Amino acid sequence: MMTYQNPDIAKAAETLFARLETLDDPATILRAPELGALYLQIRTLPNEVKAPFGRELNELKIELQGRVDESKSSSLESPARIDVTAPMDVNVPLPSLLPTEHGSVHPLTQEIQRVVDIFGRMGFVAEESREIDDQYHMFESLNFPKGHPARDDYDTFMTVETDTNGDPFIAPAHTSTMQNRILRKYHEQLASGEAIAAIVPDRVFRNEDLDARHEHTFYQLEGVYVSRGVHAGMLIATLKTFLEEYYGQKLEVHVNPYYFPFTEPSFEFGLSCPFCAGKGCSVCSHEGSIELLGCGMIHPHVLRAADIDPAGYTGFAFGCGIDRLVMMKNQIEDVRHFESAKLDFLRQF
Ligand code: DAH
Repeated sequence: MMTYQNPDIAKAAETLFARLETLDDPATILRAPELGALYLQIRTLPNEVKAPFGRELNELKIELQGRVDESKSSSLESPARIDVTAPMDVNVPLPSLLPTEHGSVHPLTQEIQRVVDIFGRMGFVAEESREIDDQYHMFESLNFPKGHPARDDYDTFMTVETDTNGDPFIAPAHTSTMQNRILRKYHEQLASGEAIAAIVPDRVFRNEDLDARHEHTFYQLEGVYVSRGVHAGMLIATLKTFLEEYYGQKLEVHVNPYYFPFTEPSFEFGLSCPFCAGKGCSVCSHEGSIELLGCGMIHPHVLRAADIDPAGYTGFAFGCGIDRLVMMKNQIEDVRHFESAKLDFLRQF
């Protein structure tokens, strides 16, 4: 702070600079009553004091203005860094909402809670995905190098903003984006002989032509299991156990060879139709069986990308559409009902 000769100005300067530190909006200091009072005082002063007083007062105003400008630019220069791919902060205070007594839990949420419960009893923890992710988790970490043709199967939405590599952020087209994070998060357990066992039931996005079977926003269930000596029989047994528990009946299941970059071998996993015992009905499009999900043994490149040695550990992974599971269970004919917010649909659950 400068030194001011006039005692009234010096006193006001001291008060105003102290107050500046406490203000949320520093610019309001320029409208402080003390300044206004000093300007009014000019008129009452003898002529020979008017000019130096006015000059000092202007200097004070300019000094205050300088501080205000400084505080503005420092708050612009170093905004807190935001990780745009982080999951939602569950600890933020809840906004006030409409009373809930007329509401109900969305059918997909109800079913996700059942799925989490069944896998929980099999020893799997549940993790959240993200609604914005980066290309590394969407592709590279899953063994889709840049330019890999299989990337075209995952047409989704991207941001105009780019990450530090110049790549756009991405609305994840599958929950497999979480595989690398899960493998890293639970990596340490392997050394103590404990398996990595996690599921991710969460939202995914695709640039689809919408119809009764295709939505731009839907839910997937990812599963990841890694330990010593894991084999495909364990994958099939885990999925069969889950589906029998979920549909409450014994099921016939089968696998066919398939291709995914992040599993080797890869399979398409199907089951006999739980509604017609294989005879053919509208749920299974009169096929008697349903091809339900993709799965396979985790590719060594995917394990290595998470610093897990594929010579010591193997694992399986699967990815299943949750909307489809729930549609089959409740004989819902159109996937678009889920995001429609139609009360006559929602009230049935
Ligand atoms: N992410 C695949 C998709 O959306 C589904 C999938 C297939 C997930 C095989 C897996 C897997 O974890 O092993 O098309």
